[in-house]
Amino acid sequence: MKKLDAKRFLRAAQRRIGTGRAALCLVLALALVAPAGTLGQSAGPKIPALLLGASWYPEQWPESRWNKDLQLMEDAHLDVVRVGEFAWSTEEPAEGVYKLGWLARAIHLAQEHHIFVVLGTPTDAPPVWLTDKYPETLRVKRDGRRAQHGARRQFNYADPLYRTFCAQIVTQLAQRFGHNPDVIGWQIDNEYTDESFDAGTRRQFDNWLKAHFGTIAALNRDWTTAYWSETYDHWSEIPLPMSADENPGLLLAYKQFVTDTWRSYQGVQTDIIRKYADPRQFITTNFGGLGWSDHFDHYVIARDLSLASWDDYVGEGQLHVARNGAMNDLVRGFKRANFWVMETQPGAVDWAPVNTTLDRGETRAIAWQDVGHGADAVLYWQWRSALNGQEQYHGSLVGPDGEPLPIYKEISGTGRQFQRAAAAVAGTTPVAQVAILDSYDSRWAIDFQRFNRNYHQLSVLLDYYRPLRHERLTVDIVNASAPLDKYKLVLAPDLNVISPHLAAHLLAYVEQGGDLLLGPRSGMKNQYDGLNVQRQPGPLAGPLGGRVVEYYALDTTVPVSGELGAGTATLWAERLSVRAKNDKVLLRYGKANGWLDGHPAMITRSVGKGRISYLGAVLDPALMTRVMAWAASDAHVRPEFPPVPKGVEVCRRVGADHTIFILINHGVEPANVTLPEPMKNVLKGDARVAQVRLPSQGVAVLETPAH
Ligand code: GAL
Repeated sequence: MKKLDAKRFLRAAQRRIGTGRAALCLVLALALVAPAGTLGQSAGPKIPALLLGASWYPEQWPESRWNKDLQLMEDAHLDVVRVGEFAWSTEEPAEGVYKLGWLARAIHLAQEHHIFVVLGTPTDAPPVWLTDKYPETLRVKRDGRRAQHGARRQFNYADPLYRTFCAQIVTQLAQRFGHNPDVIGWQIDNEYTDESFDAGTRRQFDNWLKAHFGTIAALNRDWTTAYWSETYDHWSEIPLPMSADENPGLLLAYKQFVTDTWRSYQGVQTDIIRKYADPRQFITTNFGGLGWSDHFDHYVIARDLSLASWDDYVGEGQLHVARNGAMNDLVRGFKRANFWVMETQPGAVDWAPVNTTLDRGETRAIAWQDVGHGADAVLYWQWRSALNGQEQYHGSLVGPDGEPLPIYKEISGTGRQFQRAAAAVAGTTPVAQVAILDSYDSRWAIDFQRFNRNYHQLSVLLDYYRPLRHERLTVDIVNASAPLDKYKLVLAPDLNVISPHLAAHLLAYVEQGGDLLLGPRSGMKNQYDGLNVQRQPGPLAGPLGGRVVEYYALDTTVPVSGELGAGTATLWAERLSVRAKNDKVLLRYGKANGWLDGHPAMITRSVGKGRISYLGAVLDPALMTRVMAWAASDAHVRPEFPPVPKGVEVCRRVGADHTIFILINHGVEPANVTLPEPMKNVLKGDARVAQVRLPSQGVAVLETPAH
């Protein structure tokens, strides 16, 4: 029997007999064709396990053009478009006047081309009628001036009235599209970025502080406000921070308040979508800032989302393999699950100092790197540049004439590969033996007071990450408070803020057999960004059986040597001491500033069934590689793949009954990779191979049964 196309049936029937009776007929007709027991369930469409897509802004183009665009997308094997983001003035051209028919038609036409839709809420770009009539919905900048209409992100995220308008438009969207089978998910707003410094937000901050500290006396104590006569008598006296010179306690609390305010801003929209929409539609927001943004605590914001996603841009120059890999791993850690790359650049961006383009093949290599690190979808920003507006120069798949640009062919090749690999990728995710701990409180605390302006936490994190990736190990990057029991090795560079609670969590991991390596600056601060009275690593100094006696910012290198090898420290050096008998010194400083000379730079101690170590310096890459090799071998971390030629990245995704390896040659020379056993060459018709040859920017996806 021919399959019943329910939507077509309904539309045809509506035309003939009207909506109500048409729906009844559809139910009866479905009862005839649907297998028993499926009626009333919303199984939803079958979504490929791996999707490629683009941001498409149909509101910027005549409707007569849509079909051609969608046909070109289908030809390029795109499976998904993100639409609606920024389209508020088209969706609600005047207050309370909603026009969503065009969006329904765009979604429908996309489906006719087998393209799914992620619906963006438009709240990052309010229409001018709104902010003109209700200027309090515009944010106030730090200098006291109100933002104005004309760009985006001009809204006040904390303003109740703005949130009401957001709720109204999102209600309209959710009611209309919440059960649309072609809409597979929602993106809230766009890259939450700008705060507001208006009086209303300040009142909210004061209330937030009251809820957190309980009494003004507690706040005065925890912030040590006697310093510089900062003592407060009333909550209303506490300002929003205007400069980096303010009390670190206030600065940290403010960041947490900003996080909670974005969370409640987002919550207005997610609550409405959850009320009206089918739970099969995911809810995400696209994190910006090249992955490393610290505008807010991403773990907190991700809590209320069903899926994490981020915007993966290189900007100027070429792919930074380790950085981009780590950022994908960071995003995977937000929900400790696979994620989406909601935007990435098709060639060049338009906001870098020099908007160089990615090399031929590099765009494809990046897409596969994203997948290798846990992305289940990659979407290009954008399909086609608007003819006017601020981003005319940005990379796109088709030009202003609507015809494909050179990158289109490469992306269409990636689309073909994604379709081929989808079945193998289905049900798989990166599984790591090693985790690096991340904490926004620590990141903020260090960046408020860097002590050495050349000290970059991301760079320190990559010092730990790179050697592990060179050894072809999967690395998780997770919140410091995440469950750790599945990891053999946990690394905590820059874990500056260690509260008693976090210390207990880490200690439990060690006592039960975990291997914890703390990096420089760890445990200096408590949860209020106050100094821990006990020297670093604060509450973990006891279990470590040693401590940081003093820390030094370096502007020259300092020799370091010991049983792990010899090299140098740069930027930062902490003089350690050992107190416990079973503490072992692994590295010592050589002759330096006198204070460091001969003192321990790295120590380790067995605790319970596990081990705790402390490395107090930023080391050169060669010595750091040896430190990581020691840490991995001490923790019995098993290799995941044999050695590969330089420039080849190995990513592993593990499923219930099979494992896939994604090999990417980021180098300029072709590379031959010998596999540990014959595997299915997924992109090449599934033939079993024992070796693959990868051209520069080449990719192989290899499948093997689970061991
Ligand atoms: C992103 C943003 C997009 C677009 C893109 C250009 O940060 O989400 O809307 O502006 O940058 O690279």
